[in-house]
Amino acid sequence: MSLVPLRRRELLIGAAALTVPAFAPLASASAGLIVTPGQTEGPFYPVKLPPDMDADLVRVQGQAAQAVGQVTHVSGRVLDKRGGIVKGAMLEIWQCDANGIYNHPADNGQKRRDAAFQGYGRTTVDGDGRYAFRTIRPVAYPGRTPHIHFKVHAPGAGRLTTQMYVAGEAQNARDGVLRAIRDARARESVIVALLAAAEIEPGALKGSFDIVLDL
Ligand SMILES: [Fe+2]
Repeated sequence: MSLVPLRRRELLIGAAALTVPAFAPLASASAGLIVTPGQTEGPFYPVKLPPDMDADLVRVQGQAAQAVGQVTHVSGRVLDKRGGIVKGAMLEIWQCDANGIYNHPADNGQKRRDAAFQGYGRTTVDGDGRYAFRTIRPVAYPGRTPHIHFKVHAPGAGRLTTQMYVAGEAQNARDGVLRAIRDARARESVIVALLAAAEIEPGALKGSFDIVLDL
């Protein structure tokens, strides 16, 4: 099933919710979640999935070296519009390495690619709807502000393809893909603050990115 028919259904529910008095606590809480906007998959989704595609992109199985870049822990929940967890949701992420190179034949510069960076990973939410990835802080490459690509699969309910951005990046304001999200609150919902996370590991960053599906 696609998310599209569900979105239409929710629009109708959303219109009905407008008639609910603003002080109704349950109604306003359930109407408060912003659906994560869909964004282009872009040209660099893997042609061939890597042998190691776990949730730790900083380490590739069988390699002693760690990926170049600042280790970043990205975690969050996959939710429906009412804040309920989406059981069994599976997430994929992919991004370029610290040199701005994707593990993809269409990306020029494969010779400069950091072979110690996994580039792609996947995981499934736990019983509380939570996911976590260990990756590197995304970097800019020509024409794009730093971002991480996400694809979220909700069992029996379709999938969402989107991108996550880093708060405070000067290039965010000029990024065509990010700017194409016209609704300001939806745009803000995909921009994540990365904070020092020495309690997780020295020198690392952490960011929280909840993904709200149109369910
Ligand atoms: Fe990209």
